[in-house]
Amino acid sequence: MIPQEPPVPAVAAVVVLAAGQGTRMRSSTPKVLHPLGGRSMLGHVLAAAEPLSAGTTVVVVGAGREAVEGHLREIAPGARPVLQEEQRGSGHAATLALEAVPGLEGTVLLVNGDAPLLRAATIEALVTAHAGAGNTLTVLTAEVADPTGLGRIVRDGDGSVRAIVEERDATPDQRAIREINAGVYVGDAAALRRALGRIGSDNDQGELYLTDVLGLLVTEGLPVGGVRADDPADVLGCNDRRELADRRRTLNDRVLDELMRSGVTVVDPRTTWVDVTAAVEPDALLQPGTQLLGTTAVAAGAVVGPDSTLVDTEVGEGASVVRSHVLGAVVGPEATVGPFSYLRPGTRLARGAKVGAFVETKNAEVGEDSKVPHLSYVGDATIGRGANIGAATVFVNYDGVAKHHTTIGDHVRIGSDTMLVAPVTVGDGAYTAAGSVITSDVPAGAMAVARAPQRNVAGWVRRRRSGTPAAEAAAAAESRADNDQ
Ligand code: UD1
Ligand code: CA
Repeated sequence: MIPQEPPVPAVAAVVVLAAGQGTRMRSSTPKVLHPLGGRSMLGHVLAAAEPLSAGTTVVVVGAGREAVEGHLREIAPGARPVLQEEQRGSGHAATLALEAVPGLEGTVLLVNGDAPLLRAATIEALVTAHAGAGNTLTVLTAEVADPTGLGRIVRDGDGSVRAIVEERDATPDQRAIREINAGVYVGDAAALRRALGRIGSDNDQGELYLTDVLGLLVTEGLPVGGVRADDPADVLGCNDRRELADRRRTLNDRVLDELMRSGVTVVDPRTTWVDVTAAVEPDALLQPGTQLLGTTAVAAGAVVGPDSTLVDTEVGEGASVVRSHVLGAVVGPEATVGPFSYLRPGTRLARGAKVGAFVETKNAEVGEDSKVPHLSYVGDATIGRGANIGAATVFVNYDGVAKHHTTIGDHVRIGSDTMLVAPVTVGDGAYTAAGSVITSDVPAGAMAVARAPQRNVAGWVRRRRSGTPAAEAAAAAESRADNDQ
């Protein structure tokens, strides 16, 4: 038998407090919607609570309510928004949340919405410790170097938690405490409801503090505890843009750490950014300046970078993407992209295909071993296998009103500077002459020539540009030719 982790005790509901203004962000975007590492702050908190599989998830919304509710519908349609019209404090927010689920019994997790580094394992350890100790309320804490602005955990001589005191209400002795309240609590629903009904707003901010519940339960003689987070980084909140940058960096360091442990080479962790939602297989190599965003997935043996941004993109085994911007594309195994390519959504490169320098593609399938090596635009196209698209070819897909499709067969040779005016089809094995404007279909195996024949006007430069270096060079060439006769 494989030894299993003991199951995490059940949690009936998760309550996320996300109604606060976030004044210090100085933003028109609600604080909890600011993104980092591929999710919003709120998205990270919900993801950390997800493994608890709580039957009910409530998110208290207020500031920027429409935006937060819209975001919730996208990322957590099962979560229930509860409106806090006026931000009268975290205690008031928690009260409204519990009122919204009147029949709720059992254990509740309450968590601040601005804790993007919180991990599932940390929450699970808190819930397990809470149940193990038979507590009424357990608070997540951490020892931090700089506790400025945070609630302090007051313990008595035997180490048991007595109260949480906000910094602005703390005595100088209490301010010296470095163990802080993370803003993550597990407690019994009924006891929380009762205690929340008794808290007051007799504090420096005149707000109802969720944190006061702890002290109240202590005076009632109920069992209350504090569990220190293993990694103090987990509990860091995020109140302004500098903290946002710090949290983003920490999150990224964690992602890269895990990737490197799993066998991914990261040449320069300082300039490599990988979202928590992206995936990279062992033996992939990430060069400096690489960003892997959204649902991007990079397979084994692929090389990405330097200086490349990939969004929602799949990179196959052994493929390479160099100095390029790639959105919603599939880069097949052994395919090569760049340098300086721009791949837009709907681009699909088959095995061994090549998209080279200064090429833009959109909604384009490039078949096995086919090449678009230089300076081209390929939009709304299907290209067969083994084809070559000459430099400066444009797939003319837009007539000013609608987009049209171009189909290129297998082993086609499109000459340089061909305009393919869609809708148009070039049959298998066909050629187009350089500089052609192709407006009608080319049958398989044909050579299409669609350009004005060349005309040389002899002596034009001597007559019309006399006295210029060009005319002198032309005269010298003419006299050399005469002498040679
Ligand atoms: C809070 C804690 C503090 C803790 C810190 C951890 C309180 C009173 N203090 O302080 O002990 O150390 O978090 O980061 O809780 N909110 C509402 N409605 C409101 C007020 C707040 O939903 O009326 C939400 C906020 O959106 C936020 C959370 O509650 O997610 C905490 O509020 P915030 O103002 O950020 O409290 P802090 O001062 O950070
Ligand atoms: Ca906060």
